Amino acid sequence: MSDIRSRIIGTGSCLPKKVVSNKDLEAVVDTTDEWISSRTGISTRCIATSESAVDVASKAADEAIKASGLAPEDIDLVVTGTVTPDMAFPSTSSMVQSRLGLRSGIPALDVSAACSGFLYALDVADKYIRLEDAKNVLVIGVDLFSRVVDWTDRSTCVLFGDGAGAAVLKAESNGNGILSTHMHSDGRHGELLYAPMDIKEHPFSVKDEAKADDNGSKLREPSTLKMRGNEIFKIAVRSMNGAIMEALDSNGLKAEDITLLVPHQANTRIIKAMKDRLDLPDGKIFVNISKYGNTSAASIPIALDEAFREGRIKDGDIVIMVAFGGGLTWGSVAVRW
Ligand code: UT7
Repeated sequence: MSDIRSRIIGTGSCLPKKVVSNKDLEAVVDTTDEWISSRTGISTRCIATSESAVDVASKAADEAIKASGLAPEDIDLVVTGTVTPDMAFPSTSSMVQSRLGLRSGIPALDVSAACSGFLYALDVADKYIRLEDAKNVLVIGVDLFSRVVDWTDRSTCVLFGDGAGAAVLKAESNGNGILSTHMHSDGRHGELLYAPMDIKEHPFSVKDEAKADDNGSKLREPSTLKMRGNEIFKIAVRSMNGAIMEALDSNGLKAEDITLLVPHQANTRIIKAMKDRLDLPDGKIFVNISKYGNTSAASIPIALDEAFREGRIKDGDIVIMVAFGGGLTWGSVAVRW
C-alpha cells in the first residue's frame, strides 16, 4: 500500500429549523425536563418538519465542499451513512449528487450501520482513497429519527433528534489524515435496538404466524424503533472503550496523546464513563448532546464540524472518533488532522 492517506479538508453540518425542548415533550409523553436532563444530558433537539433527509444532507455537504476549497466537480465519490433515507432507492448519495450538481458517472452509495454509519462511511471512503480509486470524497452522515421513533414511547422518543453532517476527504501523502479505522458488528444483539421496515403485504404473503420464523414475526411489528436502553448502555461503554484502545494501540499512541475525542452523542453518562476510563480532562472530549440529542449517523460529523469551527482541532492534532449503534455496530477512526 502507498503512503497515501485520506485527509479531512472540509466539514459542514445542517440541523432542521424546529427546536423541541424537554418542556415541549412534557406535552407529548409522560416525562419531565428533570428526568431527560439528568438521565441523558439532553435539553433540546431539532426535528425536521418540512426538511427531507436529502435537504439537510445536501446543505451539510455543500458547506463541507465550500470549506474544503474544492469545486463540486472535483468530488469523485459520495458515501453516506444513513438508516432513515427519503427513499429505499435512489440512494441518498445519488440524490445529493444530483442536488449539488456533482459530476455524473462518479460512484455514489449509502451505508447502513445506524449510529456508526458515518464512521463506516469514512472507512469505505478511506479504502477507496488508499487504493487510489478516488482522490476527493464526500462523506455524509444523516438521519431523521423523528420518522422512526414511537412518539408514544417515552423511553425512546425523548432521546433522538434529526440532522446531517459531512466531511470532504482528499488523498494526501504528507503523513496527515486517517491513521486507522476499526469497524465491528455483532448481529447476535440486533434485537436490542432495531426498527423494522414498513413491509407491504403481497398476494403470496404468509399470514400464518406459525409459518413465520423469528425474523418473520419481527417484520410484522409496527415499523417504529425499539430499544432496550439499559442493556445497550453497558455494551456501548465497553465496545467504545475497546474501539478507542484499538485506535491507540494500532498507532502506538497513549490516551494522553489524544487532542480531542469525538464520541457518538447518545448519553452524557456514556460519554462520562468513557472519559473516566481514559482519564481524559474535560477539554479533550467533545460534547454537544445537550443541543441536539442523539442524531444517529449525523452525531459525529455534526460534532466534528462544530469542534473544528470552534478552533478545537488544528493541523497535526490527534482526533479519535468513536461510535456505537444498532446492529450492533461500533468502531473508531483515528486521524492526524
Ligand atoms: O445511539 C445508539 C445507542 N443507544 C444508546 O447508547 C442508549 C443507551 N441507553 C441509555 O442511554 C439509557 O439506558 C436510557 C437513557 C435510554 C435510559 O436511562 P436509564 O437510566 O437506563 O433508565 P431506565 O430505562 O432504567 O428507566 C428508569 C425509569 C423507569 O421507571 P421505573 O421502572 O424505575 O419506575 C422508566 O419507566 O425511568 C422511566 N423512564 C422515564 N421517566 C420519565 C423511562 N423513560 C422516561 C422518560 N421520562 N422519558
